[in-house]
Amino acid sequence: MIGQPVLERLVELACLAPSVHNTQPWMWHTGRGRVRLYADRTRLLPDDDLRGRNLVMSCGAALDHFRYAARALSLDTEVTRLPEGPRSDLLAEISLLRSEPSPSAAEDIAALRARCTDRRRFTSWPVPAAALEGLAEEARARGAVALPVTDVGTRIRLELLTKQGHLVSAVPAFPRPDIPTVAETRAVVESSDGAIVIGAEVDEPAAWLQSGEALSSMWLRATREGLSVVPLSLPADVDAVRTTLRHDETHGAVVPHVLVRIGWQAIGRSQLPRTPRRPLAEVLAR
Ligand SMILES: Cc1cc2nc3c(=O)[nH]c(=O)nc-3n(C[C@H](O)[C@H](O)[C@H](O)COP(=O)(O)O)c2cc1C
Repeated sequence: MIGQPVLERLVELACLAPSVHNTQPWMWHTGRGRVRLYADRTRLLPDDDLRGRNLVMSCGAALDHFRYAARALSLDTEVTRLPEGPRSDLLAEISLLRSEPSPSAAEDIAALRARCTDRRRFTSWPVPAAALEGLAEEARARGAVALPVTDVGTRIRLELLTKQGHLVSAVPAFPRPDIPTVAETRAVVESSDGAIVIGAEVDEPAAWLQSGEALSSMWLRATREGLSVVPLSLPADVDAVRTTLRHDETHGAVVPHVLVRIGWQAIGRSQLPRTPRRPLAEVLAR
């Protein structure tokens, strides 16, 4: 049986995962060599995330971080997702089995510690299409739909949609300080990066969990490759926007859950201070 100190180390590493507004909306139960991951709905952002999509995605990211950390510590995981159904806060039950030592353990733990949201403007170095496709593949390996968006026009529309929570036609004719103009958005998009839409064919908890796992897996790979990632929550509860995204941008194939911007940060740029994490005692129950 895997001992309690190892389980707690894994939970601590899992909690380095990204979460919407750094809410860290998770609760972990450990014991008898097994770990259970619960959604902590007291940390829901009701104004932005009525249905809990971003909350469950954040927990999905933590679940993937947990498994990634386990592999680095020579442990295999067996996961049952939503064992009590989609309405339950119990999102996953994880069993652990000893496995072969991982040759990349040190690098993998370093990637977990290095990953962060760096919102500084990317450099203008293009992200090669093959790198973007590789990251999308990583997300797909977690069962999500992942679509690289390379067309600049589509990118601009997506940026505007996510930033404003409005259709492009609602872009104000006169600048407002809180809403970027089309020209500003075009400048950001054209001077940088690529984007990937992560989603699924459905819009429900099992798919959100999966998209969160995909986001984490893709982000850790990007970190290992020196690429920077910034997720942009979609204005998910504005139905008209979601419908537009679904049909115009993804041809009806996918319900988008998150848009991910990917680019290069300048070499030698200062390290960002890490965002804080809740103390382990607050998120861990035995
Ligand atoms: C589901 C999800 C949605 C997010 N949405 C946004 C977003 O819309 N804009 C943004 O700047 N960051 C977004 N983030 C990134 C979080 O703000 C970030 O992960 C958190 O503040 C912790 O910081 P870190 O990633 O540097 O550890 C999102 C993260 C997740 C998991």
